[in-house]
Amino acid sequence: MVYKIKTLMNIKLRCQACHKEYASSEPVWNCKCGGLLTLDFHARFPLDKILKRKPTIWRYREALPIEHDKHIISFDEGFTPLVQEEFAGKKVLLKQDHLFPSGSYKDRGASVLVSKIKELGVKKVVEDSSGNAGAAIAAYCAKANIACDIYVPEKTSAGKLLQIEQYGADLHKVPGTRADTAKAVWLAAKSTYYASHYWNPFFLHGTKTCVFEIVEQLGWNVPDAIILPVGNGTLLLGTFIGLKELQREKIIHGLPKIIGVQAENCAPLAHAWKNHCKTSPHPFIKETIAEGIAIANPVRVKDMLHAIKETNGDIMTVKEKEILDALHSTARKGYYIEPTSAVAIAGFKKYPMKQDEIVVLPLTGHGLKASETIMKIK
Ligand SMILES: Cc1ncc(COP(=O)(O)O)c(C=O)c1O
Ligand SMILES: [Zn+2]
Repeated sequence: MVYKIKTLMNIKLRCQACHKEYASSEPVWNCKCGGLLTLDFHARFPLDKILKRKPTIWRYREALPIEHDKHIISFDEGFTPLVQEEFAGKKVLLKQDHLFPSGSYKDRGASVLVSKIKELGVKKVVEDSSGNAGAAIAAYCAKANIACDIYVPEKTSAGKLLQIEQYGADLHKVPGTRADTAKAVWLAAKSTYYASHYWNPFFLHGTKTCVFEIVEQLGWNVPDAIILPVGNGTLLLGTFIGLKELQREKIIHGLPKIIGVQAENCAPLAHAWKNHCKTSPHPFIKETIAEGIAIANPVRVKDMLHAIKETNGDIMTVKEKEILDALHSTARKGYYIEPTSAVAIAGFKKYPMKQDEIVVLPLTGHGLKASETIMKIK
């Protein structure tokens, strides 16, 4: 589909630390000073046009920071179903983002980021991941004919490793923790474009489409709360960016509470939140079955705390047993998700919900990717 947006989007990247600006034609993913980059452009929502387009993330074309339609890399993904279920006697709307082409919501970010990479003319990228972002980037790079090296912790679920290799990526299995994997890619990123889902701001402008869809599926209304799992915060931050853009354009008026959920064994954000936003390192990190959010030092922690504060949200933690119970109870309703995704369900079960509150919960990753891991823990 050709979207033919008439005006140039005038996209800029701005450093959060020194405020230096970069044109979006520059292949940068962080500032020369080492700071994090934010995207600056005016997202628009022409509802009459949007409603006539296919139900994919690209129906929000005027809000997606790619200059030319010809660079869009897409499998017509998105517009995942929103279905009501009940847990612990409370109603919740499940957004089925485990049904994406590569099996996780990360495809939202990968579609936008890899389109940008195509637009930049970059021929090879590197990325590090606990598995799902790597699989998503590998899938979209395969479609775009871009070479990619994906770095993952060697203990990552076998299904995810195989999937990344099958897409044709060069897989680098790094011994040690998720942080060791991040260190390994850092070296590679000195000479090759870093398609990072957490450093690169274009990724967040893909994950924001989840909340565009939620708002559209609710008749252009916001729910009262969105409960989601948090590691590096790509879904949390995308949700916040998307909400602010919708609010700026007066499509929505209030903001829903963003409720992040972390595994108690690895909860740096919850720790910072409880300590009044002091971003000191979490003193106590243990292994968790929620491999996707085993992130000890998330780089965008300040932005995440700001998003939670501004939406009057909260950060919850859940125990390993609660994650396992949530995984089982979700499967018993017919949804086969991975343990990381069950973290949000475990959080929802404990969430002190008010009467008539509308709560949305994205199911973030498909269980089939982690069957081996689930087999070991069940
Ligand atoms: C299934 C699943 N859910 C949630 C997340 C959380 O994403 P983030 O680390 O960006 O907060 C991940 C991250 O890999 C994931 O794989
Ligand atoms: Zn800077």
